[in-house]
Parts: sequence; structure tokens; C-alpha cells
Amino acid sequence: MKPLIIAIDGPSGAGKGTVARAIAAQLGYRHIDSGAMYRAVGWKAIRDGVSLEDEAAVTALAEGARIDVSSTQVTIDGIDVTRDIRTPDIDRAAAGVARLPRVRRVLVDQQRQMGIHGGIVMEGRDIGTVVFPDADVKLYLDASPEERARRRAHDPAHTGVPAVVADVATLLTQRDEIDRTRAASPLYAAADAVLIDTTGKDIAAVVREVMALVHKKGLGAGG
Ligand code: DC
Repeated sequence: MKPLIIAIDGPSGAGKGTVARAIAAQLGYRHIDSGAMYRAVGWKAIRDGVSLEDEAAVTALAEGARIDVSSTQVTIDGIDVTRDIRTPDIDRAAAGVARLPRVRRVLVDQQRQMGIHGGIVMEGRDIGTVVFPDADVKLYLDASPEERARRRAHDPAHTGVPAVVADVATLLTQRDEIDRTRAASPLYAAADAVLIDTTGKDIAAVVREVMALVHKKGLGAGG
């Protein structure tokens, strides 16, 4: 059976990362967090003093960058930015980068290359709609704003996040609004995505639900 492409989309804090990592580990697939690529470009733009309003300059910067995303580490041009890209400043910068259609094209090309042989679980905002419209399994995870804010506030990978859940909720809502309403590849569920509301759900149960879908698909494809 050909290794599958599994696309997972949804807003921040919906549980995409945890689910994608668990599914990839169970299947022995690569797990790619595409958001980390937008974050890495934002990090480099800030470091180099490139304005996020200057689309040509950010595109050149993205084209010239070597971004490596594994399940444990993110590097750009060989520099480990795994921790540095999980800050409120980079949250904002990444959302600014993600608004730029030409930069998206550069990163989407790289993401498609990663999936060329299948065997990949990729999470993001446009994976099932733009990056892999023919993905074998498409999921759209969501959760209530309160639950998403709670998860983000307790995420140890995220540094410098306000401890007050209400403040996190306000920031998350603002950022999601940017992702949902931007002109370039806005966040929405593909028509053929399976919608899963993870509010109040044990993530292990969500993982089991997804594995059942994957097996059904795998058996279908393999005959
Ligand atoms: O998932 P995240 O919070 O790390 O994503 C960072 C930013 O990049 C966020 O504003 C959403 C955006 N993004 C995107 O536009 N498309 C993707 N495939 C992944 C992330």
C-alpha cells in the first residue's frame, strides 16, 4: 500500500500538533508542522530587519532560507530556532508572513516536495485546501475558544505567553480572525474534510478516532 498523505487543519489550540504527532508516530510517518515554517521566516525577517510589509523582500528571504522541520527541531539556515519561534512576537510575525501570497507559494512548494512520496502527516491551515487537495485523509480539528486558550496557556513550548487565560483567549481570537479573513489561503475546512470538535475530549480518544479513519482509508486504497 502506498504511504498516505494525511492533512490536518484548524485554528491554534485545536489539538492539531498533539494529534498529528501521535498519528505520525503510530504509522511511522513524518510529521510536519507547516506553521513552524511561517514562524521561521518571521524570525529571520525580524533578525534581518526586513519589514513584513515588503512582500518582495520577505519572498527573497524565504527563497534564500533553508528551513528544516522535524518532529523535535526547527532550523533555519542551520540555526536552531525551535524555542525562539514560540513567542508572542513571532506569533504576530508569522501571521504577517502568512498573509503574503508570494511567500506562501515558496513555502507551499517546499511542503509539496516533502509529501511527494507520501508517508506524511502535515498540519496547518491550508493543507487540505491548497497544499494537498488530493490528500488521502483530511481532518479539520476545532475546539471552543476557551478550551483553545487554556491549551495554549499551558503549552510548555510557548514562552512569554500571558498566564491569564482570558488574555491568551483575546490574542488567539485576534490571530484566528487574521487567518480566517486574509485573502491568501484563508483558514477553512475543505468540503471533504472530516470535522472533529476536540472540546472536552481526551486527545487519546481523538487519536483513536483518527486512526480508525486512516485504517479505513488504507484498506480502501490497498484493495
Ligand atoms: O500553527 P501556528 O500557530 O504555528 O502558525 C503560525 C502562523 O502561520 C499562523 O498565523 C497561521 C499561519 N499558517 C498558515 O497560514 N498556513 C499554514 N499552513 C500554517 C500556518
